Amino acid sequence: MLTTRFTEALGIEHPIVQGGMMWVGRAELAAAVSEAGGLGIITALTQPTPADLVKEIARARTMTDKPFGVNLTILPSINPPPYDEYRRAIVDSGVTIVETAGSNPEPHMDMFREHGVRVVHKCTSVRHALKAQKVGVTAVSIDGFECAGHPGEDDVPGLVLIPAAADQLEIPFIASGGFADGRGLAAALALGADGINMGSRFMCTQESPISSTVKERIVEASELDTNLIFRTLHNTARVAKNAVSDEVVQILAEGGQFEDVRPLVAGARGRKVFEDGDLDAGIWTVGMVQGLIRDIPPAGDVVRRIVAEAEEILRRRLSLFGAPARVG
Ligand SMILES: Cc1cc2nc3c(=O)[nH]c(=O)nc-3n(C[C@H](O)[C@H](O)[C@H](O)COP(=O)(O)O)c2cc1C
Repeated sequence: MLTTRFTEALGIEHPIVQGGMMWVGRAELAAAVSEAGGLGIITALTQPTPADLVKEIARARTMTDKPFGVNLTILPSINPPPYDEYRRAIVDSGVTIVETAGSNPEPHMDMFREHGVRVVHKCTSVRHALKAQKVGVTAVSIDGFECAGHPGEDDVPGLVLIPAAADQLEIPFIASGGFADGRGLAAALALGADGINMGSRFMCTQESPISSTVKERIVEASELDTNLIFRTLHNTARVAKNAVSDEVVQILAEGGQFEDVRPLVAGARGRKVFEDGDLDAGIWTVGMVQGLIRDIPPAGDVVRRIVAEAEEILRRRLSLFGAPARVG
């Protein structure tokens, strides 16, 4: 059993979290991860309205009695979704774990605290993690430069970011970005983290509600097959390399502005990739770690085998230093 400060603070069995994923984090996937002893997370904004989120949470409850969380991603937007109503839907549904991301969770903390909700804030730098600690989150999840989605603008990979966070944080924290197997979990623990958060790995599982063509593409792809878009706009996103993301990179590199790429990056086009399996229909999110993903197993198997592999690595390494040495 890999019990850590994180598993104890959240009341879960294994130190493995399935991070919020737009269009992917639905009830089936979250429930499968939680049922296996990890922490599954439903993505609030994938549901068109707060009322739909209430129904999705109820659906997940029919699939598992174990705790699962809800992700609330708060990004600046021209037409912001009704964040307060989504937050109300989460607490009214009795959810006790929330993953916040995108901006400072402070405006939401009073309500979450009042309702006994534990907040795991996901961020991309030690300074943002320290700020989240100060406003009272239970734990943080720190995304290194490798991650799918928004890695921030500091470009610090996990190998430096995780121990840097361990040196400064007092609350439990998990490492995110670039994890897919037991080697990664063992490494994260060795670097001082209390567990791992994964997106791409869980995206490529049986319960992930996206086209099998996308999953097969992830299995074929290497660590080189991502693009960083929006660099010049200081809103970097790591996405799958395809005809559309190549074009976006080129337009922006030649001095283009957001308006010049707006039609290419429309969310509706990205959603089509996941629903129809048309890999060049739009922008879709995946991380460098796809280079380590070679199968499409049930999500529960991912949790179980990562724990078993990490335990085996830690046991074997420890035994190397025991006496008498029995190597070979
Ligand atoms: C398809 C996809 C959609 C994502 N959408 C969100 C999101 O809406 N909110 C969020 O906080 N993180 C989102 N993420 C980021 C993940 O929660 C996680 O931080 C990231 O995938 C970790 O990197 P990894 O893919 O290398 O494991 C998304 C990731 C993927 C792959």
